[in-house]
Amino acid sequence: MSQSFRIPRPLAVALLLVACRPQSAPSPSPSGGVPASPGAAPMAQVDRRDAPSAVPAAQATVDAAFPQGWRFPSGTKATFGEHAMVVSNSVLASEAGVEILKAGGNAVDAAVATGFALAVAYPFAGNIGGGGFMNIRMADGRSAAIDYREVAPLAATRDMYVDANGKLTNKSVVGHLASGVPGAVAGMNAALTKYGSKTLAEVMAPAIRLAEQGFVVDSAFSRGVNADKKNIAQFEGRDLFFPGGNPPAPGSRFVQKDLARSLRLIAAQGPKAFYDGEVGDSLVAEERRGGGIITKQDLRNYKPEWRTPIKSTYRGYTLFTMPPASSGGITMTESLNMLEKFAPLPPFGSAQYAHLLAETYRRTFTDRNEKLGDPAFVKVPIDQLTDKGYAATLAAQIDRTKASKTPAFNAGREPEHTTHYSVVDGMGNAVATTTTLNGGFGSGVWVRGGGFFMNNEMDDFAAQPGSPNMFGLVQGEANAIQPGKRMLSAMSPTIVLDQQGRLLMVSGAAGGPTIITATMEVILNVIEHHMTLADAMRAPRLHHQALPDEIRVENNGFSGAVIDSLKAMGHAIRTQGGIANVNSILRVPGGWHGVYEPRSVGGAVGY
Ligand code: DON
Repeated sequence: MSQSFRIPRPLAVALLLVACRPQSAPSPSPSGGVPASPGAAPMAQVDRRDAPSAVPAAQATVDAAFPQGWRFPSGTKATFGEHAMVVSNSVLASEAGVEILKAGGNAVDAAVATGFALAVAYPFAGNIGGGGFMNIRMADGRSAAIDYREVAPLAATRDMYVDANGKLTNKSVVGHLASGVPGAVAGMNAALTKYGSKTLAEVMAPAIRLAEQGFVVDSAFSRGVNADKKNIAQFEGRDLFFPGGNPPAPGSRFVQKDLARSLRLIAAQGPKAFYDGEVGDSLVAEERRGGGIITKQDLRNYKPEWRTPIKSTYRGYTLFTMPPASSGGITMTESLNMLEKFAPLPPFGSAQYAHLLAETYRRTFTDRNEKLGDPAFVKVPIDQLTDKGYAATLAAQIDRTKASKTPAFNAGREPEHTTHYSVVDGMGNAVATTTTLNGGFGSGVWVRGGGFFMNNEMDDFAAQPGSPNMFGLVQGEANAIQPGKRMLSAMSPTIVLDQQGRLLMVSGAAGGPTIITATMEVILNVIEHHMTLADAMRAPRLHHQALPDEIRVENNGFSGAVIDSLKAMGHAIRTQGGIANVNSILRVPGGWHGVYEPRSVGGAVGY
């Protein structure tokens, strides 16, 4: 590799990860999410444990039992929906999507409704002050991807986060300078306009209701807000999120008047309210007050980009994945192309399988970290990286008994918050969307009057090429800061077709770089390891991102013997509480299985 590797900057902000922590509180709602607010219409939801998978008949059993001591049992239920399914990190947001489906909306209408509802009910990551990627496949065969990633403000400079001594500051993470120009409102509106069937006001109605009337806080919400107290309480969100110094108490009603007003303006006036109107004025005023650099011109300039999804095949299955400015699609495609060279794959849970995944990820993340960036600014070798012949060359370099090496450095902080939601409707249209503020509650900056948090997405740039970012990712010049440029993402909203070309799975994740590996592993668990979706989501995960040169595994996810074997092959092993936050849908005979992340909170709502 061509970069020089430095010790990462100090861990400036200890933002905690709700998404990647165990779900310790028992979930009060049937789907395990936060309780529905009183008055919310109950949604039909059927749990059917025995609905078999729609993948070939042999795939009804699990290849390998989970190891002893693993936190999740195998053989648990998924939520079943005969017609349609919405899975997100908030049951209220999933219900918002289903409300729109039941009112005759399609999957895109429902996805946009879910997205806006997440901005209200899951403000850790749901947002109008951030951005994301949406992957759409219509039942008539049309497919599209919309990139509504934030861009660097016009006044951004390459070294804006480096101090006079050449040291990286934490300004790409906390405070007013950390934000890219938000894309969420423009992106969701563009998707709705092109592929939806309802008006913005119609699909935003559930979110507006949730903001105006509030929702009942549960313990996970309260704890999650409290975990980010340091981040939030230094800015203007403190009074709303810490009334009297404490987070909203479980059982209390959380009302967001300012956000409701912003949402009403957007519903009535369209994205103009955000990009050239009152909401944008509040945003720019907040930036000015705090020394930020986003201007009215930045907002007016913002455009979401329609992209062609990366279409790849894996043993006869077809995947639609996200092209740059996300690295997700290329990295998944390159990894799967490599794994395709190993048939059959070693059994799930074996040291050989963990080794093969790690050696594959090592190579594909090396390419990712060096070569990928915003295609409007750098030439991304997309054809080469997604070429099966190139993958074969890389696969041939893997020694099945011995770890190779990438230069080492110490890891950065744990990943924080993003959120993925998956939607299918009764017509077979599918939407996979991942959206984020980057860290939990983003930069911590809450827009006075606007009622929403701003992202800290600027940290996804290589703020100092060769130095690790908050995810420990060491990236190169291709992802250096330039005005108007999109920072490279790992977000991987993915749609999978079966070997007959029928919609099979919708999936994606939160978790920084682990988004790519966890999404892939859940898909492989279904199509290679013959797991039900419930098991595929509960199975232990692992991650490797080239640097730091280590396999990250979940606590007790692999037996002592497997860990010993991996160490004997030369791998460094790091254990952690939970990897990523995935929300998935799988077609089963007679309908759909939906499973929200068992390591976090959420709701799978089907009917
Ligand atoms: O776009 C990206 O890759 C990151 N901003 C994602 C951050 C993330 O997933 C944090 N979450 N858990």
